[in-house]
Amino acid sequence: MEQKRSSFTGKLGFILAAAGSAVGLGNLWRFPYLAAKYGGGIFLLVYLVLAVTFGFALMIAEIAIGRKTGLSAIGAFKALDKRFSFLGYVAAIVPIIILPYYSVIGGWVTKYLFTFATGGGSDAAADGYFGGFIGKVGEPILWFAIFIGATAVVVLLGVEKGVEKVSKIMMPILVVLTIGIAIYTLTLPNALDGLVYYVKPDFSKFSGTTVLAAMGQLFYSMSLAMGIMITYGSYMKKDVHIESSTRQIEIFDTGIAFFAGLMIIPAIFSFYHGDEVLIGENLTKGPGLMFVMLPKVFDSMPGGDIIGALFFILVLFAALTSSISLMETIVSIFMDKLKVGRKVACLIVLGISVVIGLPSSLGFGVFSFIEPLGAGTSILDFFDFITNNVIMPVVAFITCILVGYVIKPKAIIEEVETNGKFSGKKLFTVVIKYIAPVCIVAILIFSVMEALGFIKV
Ligand code: PHE
Repeated sequence: MEQKRSSFTGKLGFILAAAGSAVGLGNLWRFPYLAAKYGGGIFLLVYLVLAVTFGFALMIAEIAIGRKTGLSAIGAFKALDKRFSFLGYVAAIVPIIILPYYSVIGGWVTKYLFTFATGGGSDAAADGYFGGFIGKVGEPILWFAIFIGATAVVVLLGVEKGVEKVSKIMMPILVVLTIGIAIYTLTLPNALDGLVYYVKPDFSKFSGTTVLAAMGQLFYSMSLAMGIMITYGSYMKKDVHIESSTRQIEIFDTGIAFFAGLMIIPAIFSFYHGDEVLIGENLTKGPGLMFVMLPKVFDSMPGGDIIGALFFILVLFAALTSSISLMETIVSIFMDKLKVGRKVACLIVLGISVVIGLPSSLGFGVFSFIEPLGAGTSILDFFDFITNNVIMPVVAFITCILVGYVIKPKAIIEEVETNGKFSGKKLFTVVIKYIAPVCIVAILIFSVMEALGFIKV
């Protein structure tokens, strides 16, 4: 790279920036609905096991690759081994697909912020409100446009630093509020049934799809397998310890996801107590879960409109720091590869995102007859699925092969050990060389067979 790379100041700077990218809708919106859908406790358990093995090893590998080469994904893979250049391009496809639908959800968050701030909290709590909203044509598109527009303005003006500063204040408030709401939810009548569902693994619900869903969520939530952590690593100074930073980001990211689940899943069991059908329906609701359950929680508490508005503004910031990191990644690739300036690159990315995002937004209304993954699924589910459950596992697999067998784990270990011990290096080596690649392939094959009906669970 010709220009000198700016670097994060110190360890805290790196952790905050990486956490800003990692913590977002993945934790607050996606994790709870997947945990609800895939059996509660068993999903949580599988997720935690994967986080301390796959997540740990892959995040260390990506950050170390970035710092070692000083390049972002496309250049970094090429620098490590010419034959792996393609991997950077495959990884780059992921944010291009994610950003548009991420912004559709970001639009929903913005809409809910507006609703609560204007005193409409109890309307939002009514059954059918969310379905009515996303089923419209114009309104969801308007909020989607506002969200992606705001993201583009920040990236275009290069004022990410300003947003980061604000989010440094917002993030801790978000954590406190999420924990507070979770505790409140648990005090609702019959919520403890939901707690049991959420934390007690039911091994009869274990299946290949559960593991695949948990693995996809892990990559998504920690911004792995799409080259983003490589870029962040390239900005990291040599005196920052990669292993301890990784652990801290992981604990932070997983902690927020856990509490997000705690504030939503027990609410299902409380509000629909006694009606197994409705409980089941909500557990498998998918992308709308947070938007259906949280307004009910807020509506049941005193001052719910204010708390709801505060909550959604914090979620909005968390979502923006993530969407900015997604867009920034794509813009910098386009600037490099197409040799265009920031403004042109921004406009191209904005255009592509609108084109890909529109069908996702319309998929709950006029396009709801399109059910790419089977009855009840939407276009948004489809984009979400091919990135998280197909492309990202493939990128992760090839990264393991590259690190485990081509450049060898030693290269990463040396990079981590430039300052201090790498206490998990045995675990790292075993996971990267054997466990992760074998499991990823097994999970992929297993879940494809499950999807095609060869295996019954
Ligand atoms: N990790 C983010 C989240 O949990 C999503 C994201 C993925 C952001 C990739 C940036 C890059 O919401």
